[in-house]
Amino acid sequence: MKPAKERIRIVEGDITKQETDAIVNAANSSLLGGGGVDGAIHRAAGPELLEECRGLGGCPTGEARITKGYRLPAKHVIHTVGPVWRGGNRGEPELLAACYRNSLKLAVEHGVRTIAFPSISTGAYRFPLDQAARIAIKECKAFLDQEPSIEEVSLVCFGPAASDAYRKAWREVFGEEYREG
Ligand code: APR
Repeated sequence: MKPAKERIRIVEGDITKQETDAIVNAANSSLLGGGGVDGAIHRAAGPELLEECRGLGGCPTGEARITKGYRLPAKHVIHTVGPVWRGGNRGEPELLAACYRNSLKLAVEHGVRTIAFPSISTGAYRFPLDQAARIAIKECKAFLDQEPSIEEVSLVCFGPAASDAYRKAWREVFGEEYREG
């Protein structure tokens, strides 16, 4: 099995364009769409995505649900609900970590081999980017160290500030510079 650091990549771009088996949506607990990356994914997937989401009955913070990808290049969308940042002493870090873990667990259950994550909770939910990036990389590393079936995790950064934060977090977690695979 290739080590985790060779199966995680930092990508700058638009998650709706990723041609991975699954892309992860930073949703809200209603799963009925919203702004930000949620809005972009629903716009790109088309109306059938919302139809399928309606039948799911929502999703608690920290958990994940899977649907088809419809008009997206990705076959599946894994919807996860990140925590709203309230200062960091209300279990936000643990809930964000659970979003990554539960999304990856669901991916494995559905035979997903390649998956792309946005930077969950770092937009409207105001989770500090540096801390969120560290949690994302740490959780993906820990999961991939135990799970050979996931071939590649793409951490999709929507702009240079995000990729800087992810590269900094990469140095903190792996103790070396991120190298484009
Ligand atoms: N591709 C990749 N990343 C994106 C895209 C995109 N097309 N659009 C936005 N982002 C990034 C933002 O820059 C931010 O870093 O996704 C990250 C998450 O931001 P939000 O989409 O605001 O999500 P979040 O902070 O988790 O808040 C969720 O916002 O859209 C609503 O319905 C959603 O209520 C929920 C809340």
